[in-house]
Formats: sequence, structure tokens, C-alpha cells
Amino acid sequence: MKIAIVTGGASGIGRAIATSLVARGDTVVVADINEPGAKHVADKLNTLGRGRAIAAALDVTDAEAVETLYKDVHAEHGRLDLVFNNAGIAIGGLAEELTLDHWNRAIDINLKGVVHGVQAAYPLMLRQRSGHIVNTASLAGLLPMPMGIPYTATKHAVVGLSLALRAEAAGVGVKVSVVCPGFVDTPLLANINPGLPETPMSGDGRTQIKKQAGGFYTPERLARDIMRGVARNQALIVAPASGRAIWRGMRLSPRTVLRVAQFAAARYRREHHGR
Ligand code: NAI
Repeated sequence: MKIAIVTGGASGIGRAIATSLVARGDTVVVADINEPGAKHVADKLNTLGRGRAIAAALDVTDAEAVETLYKDVHAEHGRLDLVFNNAGIAIGGLAEELTLDHWNRAIDINLKGVVHGVQAAYPLMLRQRSGHIVNTASLAGLLPMPMGIPYTATKHAVVGLSLALRAEAAGVGVKVSVVCPGFVDTPLLANINPGLPETPMSGDGRTQIKKQAGGFYTPERLARDIMRGVARNQALIVAPASGRAIWRGMRLSPRTVLRVAQFAAARYRREHHGR
């Protein structure tokens, strides 16, 4: 039975991860800025009859709050085995449609949210000489995804920090993995640029994404891939298979992937700006 924290646990991928953990008997802190959502998920998971879920209100942009929660969980249970720094938001639009607010929000939540989680968990895990930090990036952390450069930039940063930390942590008993999913059917894609100035991509992007990407993976299947990847201590957990194929394409011929990205940006500009 492991002690785990999942940020962004009230919805989508975080909820599916928390569900997998509780289903196998772990104790999970479902941490989210959406406190009623976290409570709702925890209540539901506690009916599964295996592990246990505890809801926690947490804004990952608040470094002190993240440190306090992680320390409290460690103190209460005597250890902290698994941390999923997963909370994130979607940003969409061409560079010229986006403002500094889009950039700052992406950096604050998608990058600094993960940094805060790592800063809080790593010292505790170093001291216990065990534990696994699992950060959620994206396929956009491995590819040049246009129409969402702040998102792409923060996810590349999460991949970089995770792999470099993995190298440092390997000698001291701590594991680090990074998850890079393709499109997954979650509320994230229905809420692009939340609370931010609008671009043609704001709001529900699912129809458009489905048209372009051809379909979505489910959070439940992704959670299964993540559990397997974590058990095998994989550095990069890339899913689904189509995402792994695109990633392979990027390594074999970055020029081709860049050209596809260029076409997608040109089509978007034509559709929304007529040029
Ligand atoms: P979601 O929108 O279903 O869930 C995200 C959760 O994070 C929400 O419950 C939200 O309340 C929470 N959250 C947002 N800001 C927060 C903050 N400041 N502090 C604490 N919690 C906060 O989204 P989804 O899809 O489950 O996303 C989870 C992670 O997966 C994100 O990092 C996202 O970038 C990443 N991802 C998602 C993909 C997708 O297609 N859905 C694809 C690739 C990566």
C-alpha cells in the first residue's frame, strides 16, 4: 500500500490516476484547486472499498501551500511514495493572438506548478531514499506544437526538468518519470484559455481537435499506461501508440514533423484570418 499525492486529481487524467491507485489499495490525496471537485472524486473513490482517498484544496501556483501539503502528508503517514504533479491548463492560439497573460498562466500552472511539486517532494524522498515523482507533460513537450506555444514551451520544460532530475535522483534512490500523452478526452480540451483573453481556439476545442487529430484516447486507458510505466520505472511514458509513432517520426525526421506543423499553422491562419 503506497501513499500518493495527485495534483489536478479532481478531473480527467488526474482523476483516472487516483482511481487506479485507490483500486489497487493505495492511499491517495486528491489535490485540486477545485475543492468541491476533489471532494466529490475522493468520496466516490472511497466507495470502491480498496484503498483510501483524501481530498485537499491546493493551488499549485502557491509554492508554500504545495510544500505544506506534501510535508503534512509525509508527516501523517510517515512517508510519501508517489507524487503525480499533473495539474495543468490548455492554451491555444497563434503567437500573435496570445498575450503575456497566456504565457504567464501557462508558466505559473504548467511549469511552476510542477517545479513546486518537485521542490516539495524531492527533499522528503531524498531523506527517505525512496519515492517516485511522476510529472505530466504532453506530446507537445516532445514536438513543436503550433497554436499553443506557451503550452508547448512549458511542456518541453517539464520534460527537460524531469529527465535531468531523473539523472540526479537515480543515485540516491528516487525515481522520476514524465508522462507525454497525445490528445485525451478530458474537460481540458473543452476549456482552452480558461479565464484568459479569447482567441479563435478559446473554449471547447474538441470538435476541431477531433477533426485534425482523428480521435482521442481515454483517461482510463492512459492511467493504465501510466501505472505500467511507473511500475517499470520508465523515463518517458508516451501514449497512445499513435503518439509514440509521431514521437519516433520527430526523432527520425524533425524536418518532416516541422513541415506538418507548418501546414497546420498555415491552415489555421487561412481559416481564422483569411490569409
Ligand atoms: P482536466 O482539465 O480534466 O484536469 C486538470 C485539473 O487540474 C482540473 O481538475 C483543474 O481544476 C486542476 N487545476 C488547474 N489549475 C490548477 C491549479 N492552479 N492548482 C491545482 N489544480 C489545478 O485536464 P487533464 O486533461 O486531465 O490534464 C491533466 C494534465 O495532463 C495537464 O497537465 C495537461 O496539460 C496534461 N495533458 C492533457 C492532455 C489532454 O489531451 N487532455 C494531453 C497531454 C497532456
